[in-house]
Amino acid sequence: MASRAVLAIANWKMNKGLAEAVAYARALPALIRGVRGVEVVVAPAFVHIAPVAQALRGKRVAVTVAGQDCHSETKGAYTGSVSAGMLCDAGATVVILGHSERRRDFAEDETLLRAKLQAALDARLRPILCVGETLAERRRKTTHVVLKRQVEGALDGMADAALGGLVVAYEPVWAIGTGETATADQAEEAIAFIRGALERAIGASAAAGTAIVYGGSVTPENAAVVLAGANVDGALVGGASLDPESFAAIVRRLATIAAGRSVAPVGRAAYNRRSR
Ligand code: PGA
Repeated sequence: MASRAVLAIANWKMNKGLAEAVAYARALPALIRGVRGVEVVVAPAFVHIAPVAQALRGKRVAVTVAGQDCHSETKGAYTGSVSAGMLCDAGATVVILGHSERRRDFAEDETLLRAKLQAALDARLRPILCVGETLAERRRKTTHVVLKRQVEGALDGMADAALGGLVVAYEPVWAIGTGETATADQAEEAIAFIRGALERAIGASAAAGTAIVYGGSVTPENAAVVLAGANVDGALVGGASLDPESFAAIVRRLATIAAGRSVAPVGRAAYNRRSR
């Protein structure tokens, strides 16, 4: 059994009205009752965090709530933004940072993400840092260069991140919302490489304990194959997480994988081999 957490994270993005979000939160615990070994997280829109957290409170099946972003500052004149502390107040314990849609639409770079990570850790929010290459970058065979920059640029020297429960999500941009998934080999290879980059950034033992999940068109149908690699510690799910039954099926699939695995991380070796 792996010492690392296995996570199933539902990223609802800018979907669902209030009633639908709350109904989902009420329905999900029953759908995953009896599941062991998987930490289940849902990430609603900012304005739905409090009611979703409220709907999940006191349930026997633990489901935690995440923000989809936070600001790097604690307060101030930042119209339209939400601080890490505000997310906590609303009932979130986790925050997704650096999703490719935010990198694309809001020009988020490593310098900014580093500050956001620190803000999240200071507020005791567990950060999920998303990284991943575009199709053009993969075609140019620069995937490792990009992953190295994204991981080391945001996390170099931040050993505290592991203590704060850091999760990294490998989300190849070409697989997000496209119906095209990475193959099991591609996911495993990239995630092993990321673990190597993490070793450089935060040290070997912190890296070995950091969960790295895969995201990009994960569905109940492909989860068993895509998520089977020894270094893959779960899934960040967009489209297929919008339906609670479909997300629950992915959670159950991950529980089977978690129960069956004994992990031998290959981080350092894979990193050294491929970055030369
Ligand atoms: P997808 O989204 O599952 O719809 O591809 C994943 C994500 O963007 O986190």
